[in-house]
Amino acid sequence: MTGRICGTGSALPHFRVTNDDLSKIMDTSDEWIRSRTGIETRYLATEETTTSLAVEASRKALENAGVDAAELDVIIAATVTPDKLFPTLSCELQSELGAVNATAFDISAGCSGFLFALNTVQAYIESGCCRKALILGAEVLSKIMDWGDRSTCVLFGDGAGAAVICADETGILKCVQRSDGAKGMALHCYNRPVNNPYKKNPADLDYTHMNGQEVYKFAVRTVPKTISEILAAVDVTPDEVSYFILHQANIRIIESVAKRLHQPMEKFPLNLTECGNISAASVPTLLDKVNRRGLLKKGDKIVLAGFGAGLTWGAAVLTW
Ligand code: ACO
Repeated sequence: MTGRICGTGSALPHFRVTNDDLSKIMDTSDEWIRSRTGIETRYLATEETTTSLAVEASRKALENAGVDAAELDVIIAATVTPDKLFPTLSCELQSELGAVNATAFDISAGCSGFLFALNTVQAYIESGCCRKALILGAEVLSKIMDWGDRSTCVLFGDGAGAAVICADETGILKCVQRSDGAKGMALHCYNRPVNNPYKKNPADLDYTHMNGQEVYKFAVRTVPKTISEILAAVDVTPDEVSYFILHQANIRIIESVAKRLHQPMEKFPLNLTECGNISAASVPTLLDKVNRRGLLKKGDKIVLAGFGAGLTWGAAVLTW
């Protein structure tokens, strides 16, 4: 038995912010953001929460799969921006959806979170302890941005994407997840500081810090290598892959991966132009977009790949 993606869903906040909108509140420009990243707009939560976006995306994925929430054995939410430290986003989701038979837990793996959730569910399915699972990435990254730091805040957006995974004869052919904690400070954000009455010089709340060039180099080196490795492991060539659905951090990273794999950009769908980088939500929201446009045909080979904070990365090749 393997895992098969049998339904997808996504949700975005209603408030859309263009690069020109940002240039009115900080020293930046549409030209700078667009030419360096490919990003044109992003959606930012003003009324939505990580949980409300996750619930909407999950309901759509369950409907798309024709699966009732009570049939779920497992729910895994990938997020670095849950609304609460506890209970977890996945437990709140279980309650909202009425997934009374599921066990629910969160994964924190930055922008690779959805791939880590997929790999985990695959292991559960292979071991025989799960038949139907809901996995999702949901983020309100705007709450961990320093809106005075133009080098990070213009890159990110908010949203959620979900997928229902069912045990089946065909589906995931191979998936991997990897980490390199030694490079973790290239992209980091401290949690709540120690502020008990005995602490000297308590720190302020922290926001996202990124060494953009280091993350860029890591991504262009690691992602094509990992994709090549998993394809070789199952004897599939890049030419046989219909779509490469990559984490949406920067169009230049995606162009570089396409070049290294000798594949045309038409095989690399995008939503970063519209949504910016939504971390764990970027792969599943893009997968949902491609799925709902009817671009995926039964039997197509698809690659999913994520990379980000940790540093972490992961990839999967599957038959649709
Ligand atoms: N608007 C205008 N100018 C800016 C902005 C901005 N929003 N941000 C930075 N600048 C300025 C800088 O101050 C600097 O000015 P200076 O030369 O006078 O000092 C200049 O632009 C160049 O800054 P760099 O940081 O060198 O810009 P770079 O060309 O490296 O592009 C970027 C930055 C887009 C982040 C790039 O490093 C990159 O693509 N990194 C990849 C990592 C990535 O995409 N991360 C996203 C999140 S991580 C993840 O998802 C895994």
